[in-house]
Amino acid sequence: MPTIKGFSKLTKQEKLQWIAENYFQNPAQAIAVAQQYWNTNEPLQQLHDEFIENTLSNFYLPLGIAPNFIINEKEYAIPMAVEESSVVAAAANAAKFWGKRGGFKATILGTEKIGHVHFTYKGSAEKLQIFFEAIKPKFYQDTEGITQNMQKRGGGITSLKLINKTDVLENYYQIEATFETKDSMGANFINSCLEQFAKTLENNIVSADNFIEEEKNIQIIMCILSNFVPNCKVRAEVSCPIADLEEKNIPNPYEFAEKFVRAVQIAKIEPYRAVTHNKGIMNGIDAVVVATGNDFRAVEAGVHAFAARNGQYASLSDAKIENDRLYFWLEVPLALGTVGGLTSLHPLVKFSLDLLQNPSAEELMKIVSVTGLAQNFAALKSLTTTGIQKGHMKMHLGNILNQHKATPDERKKVFEYFGDTTISHSLVVQYLEKIRNK
Ligand code: MEV
Repeated sequence: MPTIKGFSKLTKQEKLQWIAENYFQNPAQAIAVAQQYWNTNEPLQQLHDEFIENTLSNFYLPLGIAPNFIINEKEYAIPMAVEESSVVAAAANAAKFWGKRGGFKATILGTEKIGHVHFTYKGSAEKLQIFFEAIKPKFYQDTEGITQNMQKRGGGITSLKLINKTDVLENYYQIEATFETKDSMGANFINSCLEQFAKTLENNIVSADNFIEEEKNIQIIMCILSNFVPNCKVRAEVSCPIADLEEKNIPNPYEFAEKFVRAVQIAKIEPYRAVTHNKGIMNGIDAVVVATGNDFRAVEAGVHAFAARNGQYASLSDAKIENDRLYFWLEVPLALGTVGGLTSLHPLVKFSLDLLQNPSAEELMKIVSVTGLAQNFAALKSLTTTGIQKGHMKMHLGNILNQHKATPDERKKVFEYFGDTTISHSLVVQYLEKIRNK
């Protein structure tokens, strides 16, 4: 395949042209596919073009709504941007189910963010520690320009520590800093502070008179926040008397509750199951994180690291039966923002935040964790009762029918025919062919 110099300097049309001509058998068709997603509202299109580099087109994800969530006695309709059929339906079902049983409760367990200056120092660890403590006020002073506004909002740097990591990597030290970033996710703020800490460290150590040349010659390796935020954590929970769990698919609530708890226990001890179990939780979490313009890669990385914090990957949620009640809960680290970043730039992100009544970051953490718990509940409920395929394939039926360009009349017949039965792609296609050949 050809290479190109200066691709980023081409116009969008030229980029598309070049890509189509060099990578597609039918360039005109490829151009048409990409262009059909161009928005005719030029300022809106330009806004999206400028989010990233080398934009060719827009990539749509559906934005769905899961209504009727009750969280800490307040009602929400939750926006979810996700492509997987049945995720929104499952969240909505779980919301309805728990809405009738007291709703969800969510509690913030911490909001601390963390970042590090990673550096190499060859010398006496004790001397470095004494020096670090002596210049500590300077780290705060030198970052005042960066922290001023954050402090006005009640945030800032909350602690600074020197960490000696030489037992695991030769000459490796860190400045570990913790932060409170209020309603912003805080990545830029944290990274700017860390880069200043590195400069302050370098500037001061060169003029420290009790260090020999080699000790003064520290090497800053990198300054970066950590997406592992175990102290920026939220708990979501539900509970009700077991007898109240009864409904159409739960004729025997006691048997259901036991099977449900067993399913969670399996995910706590079996990593194969834990990964899929947590994937179901992330179906809910990511969808809200994306809809509200937050960084889902950061959330994913942090959540999975947390799930493996005890040395083995395990379930994020937990469940128990006590005094004839079922308790089901989830604790997840979530670094989210409701100001800054895409929040006021992307019109649909703004729409989603407006829909949620412009939550604080803490409130958004509660909403997101509850959506994850709801999703997990819905998955476990179908897995331990009807099985997952029935509901899943029903939602998928629409996609299969679209793929085969079914008419409204054919759709109606297919939906009627498959009623309550289990569906497979080939059975649907066979039936569609049968009605078409009639
Ligand atoms: C599918 O996207 C998610 C599930 O596999 C989750 C689970 O198994 O718990 C249904």
